[in-house]
Amino acid sequence: MNAFTYRDGALAVDDVALNTLAEQYGTPLYVYSATALDAAYQAYRDAFTGLAPLICYAVKANGNLAVLQRFARLGSGFDIVSGGELARVLAAGGDAGKVIFSGVGKSADEMRYALEAGIRCFNVESINELKRLNDVAGELGRKAPVSLRVNPDVDAKTHPYISTGLKDNKFGIAFDAAFDAYQLAASLPHLDVVGIDCHIGSQLTDVTPLVDALDRLLVLIDQLAAAGIVLKHIDLGGGIGIRYTDETPPDLAAYAAEVAKRLAGRNLHLMLEPGRSLVGNAGVLLTRVEYLKLGEEKNFAVVDAAMNDLMRPSLYSAYHDIVTVAEQPAAAPQRCDVVGPICESGDFLGKDRELAIGEGDLLAVMSCGAYASTMASNYNVRPRAAEVLVDGSAVKLVRRRETLDEILANEKALLS
Ligand code: LLP
Repeated sequence: MNAFTYRDGALAVDDVALNTLAEQYGTPLYVYSATALDAAYQAYRDAFTGLAPLICYAVKANGNLAVLQRFARLGSGFDIVSGGELARVLAAGGDAGKVIFSGVGKSADEMRYALEAGIRCFNVESINELKRLNDVAGELGRKAPVSLRVNPDVDAKTHPYISTGLKDNKFGIAFDAAFDAYQLAASLPHLDVVGIDCHIGSQLTDVTPLVDALDRLLVLIDQLAAAGIVLKHIDLGGGIGIRYTDETPPDLAAYAAEVAKRLAGRNLHLMLEPGRSLVGNAGVLLTRVEYLKLGEEKNFAVVDAAMNDLMRPSLYSAYHDIVTVAEQPAAAPQRCDVVGPICESGDFLGKDRELAIGEGDLLAVMSCGAYASTMASNYNVRPRAAEVLVDGSAVKLVRRRETLDEILANEKALLS
């Protein structure tokens, strides 16, 4: 399903034309489709129906409170990687009992906060983290539920920056060290060993590495059971890719079938941590052309969004489709780089795009529901863009545009 389609001559989401949103809320503007969020969540539920997994949406993909609230209402759990993300989940009405806490660098304060909130599980990534968590839980007179994030050493075949399941990545406990780590965890008095997890990378277009990882974890689960450590859940992480241009994302039902085959007859509750595949194609970044700079070597469309609003092209050379909001623009098509106002040559949203645009025209940068607003910064003192959520004909401003006063508020000039 594509939530963003041309209607009556303009790109629209549900019943709302994007140009009316630009006029009302200004640009750059992130626009999200509530129906697309719901549909993506439902697609997971349908595909995995027999397994009744706990779907823990990865907050890092898009942590807007309205997005989290939407998923919480559908029964979703949440995968968090910081105390800040936990605060967001709780503020959005999420259920702490469905929260799992991943990440290699949990601080003692974050552990305390999560224990007091009563989260479902800590996905622990190292021996020293196990020890720290045991100490913190002990101080609070509690037992911390733990899963070990095992690094299965499989190649997820994705961009090196978003591949996480190889031996030389910083994530997880090495497969060969995991058995001993579990024995240690089981011996620590303030830990309750409940599960196992892995997350091998992001934007995966092939399920084979995910299934290979599962196979490796099952071997370990059996070895642990033989040693008296019986796990209750298995968490396969996130990582399912989406279509940015011509990728063929994995078929969820086929993935689910492979998982179901392997979990049949086992008493293991399944958990998943999808991020991008729940939100990526439910959002666009709307931007206006400020200037056309036509040159001998190259043409540039200088737009009002920049790498601070969407880091992915600069950081990973990621491709995002860029389309005109007008279905049949008046201008003649020309090849150009779509660039932002930031003072870096790396500040581009797209290169060598054929676009029929004039100054003042609106463009939509597609697939900006995931890892766009959450990775935004104030670089060049650019206020963070506003975010709207469209649901049918209803439009809600779910984050207002940041002001310059807000950006300056925490600083102090040391004038005598
Ligand atoms: N679970 C863990 C432990 C993770 O580290 C991640 C993503 C996810 C789940 C969700 O993965 P997803 O389903 O979204 O692939 N900024 C990069 C993506 C970084 C992903 C980091 N971890 C990008 O823009 O492509």
